Amino acid sequence: MLLRLPTMRAPETTSTTQPSLAVAGIQLQYGGVAALQGIDLEVASGEFVALLGPSGCGKTSLLRTIAGFVHPQQGAVRLNGRDVAGLAPRHRNIGIVFQSYALFPHMSVLQNVLFGLECRGIPKSAATQRARDAIGLVGLSAFADRRPKQLSGGQQQRVALARAIVIEPDLLLLDEPLGALDKQLRVQMQTELKALQRRLGVTALFVTHDQEEAMSMADRIVVMRDGKIAQIDTPESLFAAPNSAWVCEFVGAGNLLRGDAASILPGAPPGSVVQVPFDKLRVSPAANGMPITGRRFLGAMVELQMATPGGIVCAHLSPAAASAFTIGTHVHLHADPADCRVLPH
Ligand SMILES: Nc1ncnc2c1ncn2[C@@H]1O[C@H](COP(=O)(O)OP(=O)(O)OP(=O)(O)O)[C@@H](O)[C@H]1O
Ligand SMILES: [Mg+2]
Repeated sequence: MLLRLPTMRAPETTSTTQPSLAVAGIQLQYGGVAALQGIDLEVASGEFVALLGPSGCGKTSLLRTIAGFVHPQQGAVRLNGRDVAGLAPRHRNIGIVFQSYALFPHMSVLQNVLFGLECRGIPKSAATQRARDAIGLVGLSAFADRRPKQLSGGQQQRVALARAIVIEPDLLLLDEPLGALDKQLRVQMQTELKALQRRLGVTALFVTHDQEEAMSMADRIVVMRDGKIAQIDTPESLFAAPNSAWVCEFVGAGNLLRGDAASILPGAPPGSVVQVPFDKLRVSPAANGMPITGRRFLGAMVELQMATPGGIVCAHLSPAAASAFTIGTHVHLHADPADCRVLPH
């Protein structure tokens, strides 16, 4: 059987009767450490979901639980409706890409990609054809006979990807697969990986702690904190309507105005935290205002920083508008109430 090629199911056209992955009530402890504390998550067929959260929040633990490398004390993992509790990792039909690539150094690219098929007992000639198809899909046909150490980081990452997709997985788990790449290659691989996932129509769960990466790639983002899910939303909704001050700060969805600064929103209850997007915070010169303490050129815009008693706030202005402001200029802050939101603590 050949690797499924671009004619495959696209996310929009798939039936949504049953999620591809359903995780319910997962509690996982390592000794006394509670790594996952009640995780519920459904991922639709063909969907690309990012797991985003700070170091130690449980992202890898959740992937390892789904893959079957660790066993939760409570909860269930279902793949295409089937409880996989009793299934060993190799019987779950999951493709995995680790941050470290985990390629076999003594094997060629082709042998690395073939390995998973041979383990599944697929006859040599059919397996070789599928492995070559997968290597072609990631653009490495000319490198099939090389060893991993004869490849660049980005090429090794592609081999790891080919090895994960060659088994035609029902689910692709990617644990910070681009973490070791430099910024430019990382952005290029984000685009390639997303395009390949869409072409294959494969369901994907992608771990990152890079907010921009999650925003630019995912259909939905799962924000994790301390072994729990803090919010699940589309990138747009997460940015526009974070459900807590913590999520707002973590995803960089705007300023958090506290204390006196929160009075920018008339009628905000005392003690509230107000979210104002960086590009919606206005500044005007005022001798009795607060001083600008920082100024950063960000390319398309300039960021002005002001130290309020509740913390630093930032305003993003066009370079032309920002030319009137320098460090030390005193300003008042304003925002249209329609651009502000009161957040729970
Ligand atoms: N094998 C283990 N034994 C004991 N504790 C562990 C083990 N693996 C992970 N932990 C702990 O479980 C928690 C979650 O770890 P996990 O590796 O899932 O975090 P993560 O979100 O993937 O972090 P990172 O972004 O740093 O990779 C952490 O407190 C970690 O120290
Ligand atoms: Mg991790």
